[in-house]
Amino acid sequence: MRIVMVGSGYVGLVSGACFADFGHDVVCVDKAVEKIEALKKGVIPIFEPGLDALVESNVKAGRLSFTTDLGQAVADADVVFIAVGTPSRRGDGHADLGYVYAAAREIAAAMRGFTVVVTKSTVPVGTGDEVERIIRETNPDADFAVVSNPEFLREGAAIEDFKRPDRIVVGLSDERARGVMTEVYRPLYLNQSPLLFTSRRTSELIKYAANGFLAMKITFINEMADLCERVGADVQDVSRGIGLDGRIGSKFLHAGPGYGGSCFPKDTLALAKTAQDYDSPVRLIETTIAINDNRKRAMGRKVIAAAGGDVRGKKVAVLGLTFKPNTDDMRDSPAIAVVQTLKDAGAIVSGYDPEGMENAKQLMEIEFASGPYQAAEGADVTVLVTEWNELRALDLERLKSVMKTPILVDLRNVYRRPEVEAHGFTYSGVGKVK
Ligand code: UDX
Repeated sequence: MRIVMVGSGYVGLVSGACFADFGHDVVCVDKAVEKIEALKKGVIPIFEPGLDALVESNVKAGRLSFTTDLGQAVADADVVFIAVGTPSRRGDGHADLGYVYAAAREIAAAMRGFTVVVTKSTVPVGTGDEVERIIRETNPDADFAVVSNPEFLREGAAIEDFKRPDRIVVGLSDERARGVMTEVYRPLYLNQSPLLFTSRRTSELIKYAANGFLAMKITFINEMADLCERVGADVQDVSRGIGLDGRIGSKFLHAGPGYGGSCFPKDTLALAKTAQDYDSPVRLIETTIAINDNRKRAMGRKVIAAAGGDVRGKKVAVLGLTFKPNTDDMRDSPAIAVVQTLKDAGAIVSGYDPEGMENAKQLMEIEFASGPYQAAEGADVTVLVTEWNELRALDLERLKSVMKTPILVDLRNVYRRPEVEAHGFTYSGVGKVK
């Protein structure tokens, strides 16, 4: 199959490289000249484990290339994926589809022969209909089908998720397109990953329903964590106790500082807005959004409480800044709100993150340290916000020796209280009193 990826951001690049690795002929397109030039030289603009090697080997094998020339690439393609950004629109929280529609217009003008146009970007229900209308309007003679094929990649585990997905969702009504999509995913089909064919609108909604449900699941356990602290229970045991029920499942039940990232905050908001527009509000999701927003600042207040109620003039070391480990992504990271709350309360904040500090510098004015112990030098409190492996195995004796007062706030429950206390720390986790 000759595949074109329009948009060489996170999803486009990972999907493009993986499709090439399946043996397809893939061209990744982007408008950003510097990005394409860098990719041609083998420089990957994002941090994703394994991606650089995958890109390199497939470029070498002649299956993967990069260009800014959309027209040329699309003219030769069997399948064109739209993988451009759909940010939250400023003001109303709806997904901004400007980039998707612009891509549809350009693709329409360039396509030759039967072409399958696939929206991989997360798009609200009905976007496929509009993409179809735009293509027909731009190029009335075009022979094409519009398909929805949402992506469920997790940052940091994207390649594994792409190659071994729980399922692949494909929304379409055209039989020829069904044949093409089956061919595109054949290697996964052979891996026995279920390929679920639905209507286009259903497929578009599945993506939002999945992310909404997961955000709700995290938020549920976060509320249970707060309750555990009040009633003297342990949220990790609650997670285990309910997660072993096959109907609930154990994943996404880790209490923490609230979810962040490029998907959950944006997608929950867009889902709530769409549902309101259709006069069928999704109140569980609306409430999830509100709880999660409050939680991030509440975590800052938790640190202040652990410091004795006042952090004015005190130094707080924040370890882990990205929204989760194995990424340099700072988008909607809980660390942003935690840091802001601490600074508003007069604290001096120093931070450390293995990969995210360059991005963090755009978002927060704090002292950036070269390592966890450097960040904790002279600190009154250390708070672990993101559970990078490097931060899961801190030398507690060393940490204590550099801190002014040994207080550890562990917002990811990676340490065990008895162990930390044995080193002379005052410890607080999330949703546990013992
Ligand atoms: C998510 C979805 O998992 C993926 O399917 C979708 O395509 C894009 O959005 P991602 O944003 O990369 O992926 O990260 P994920 O691992 O899902 O974590 C999201 C946030 O939830 C992180 O801030 C993480 O720390 C938090 N989280 C996750 C918890 O607080 N507790 C959990 O149990 C799981």
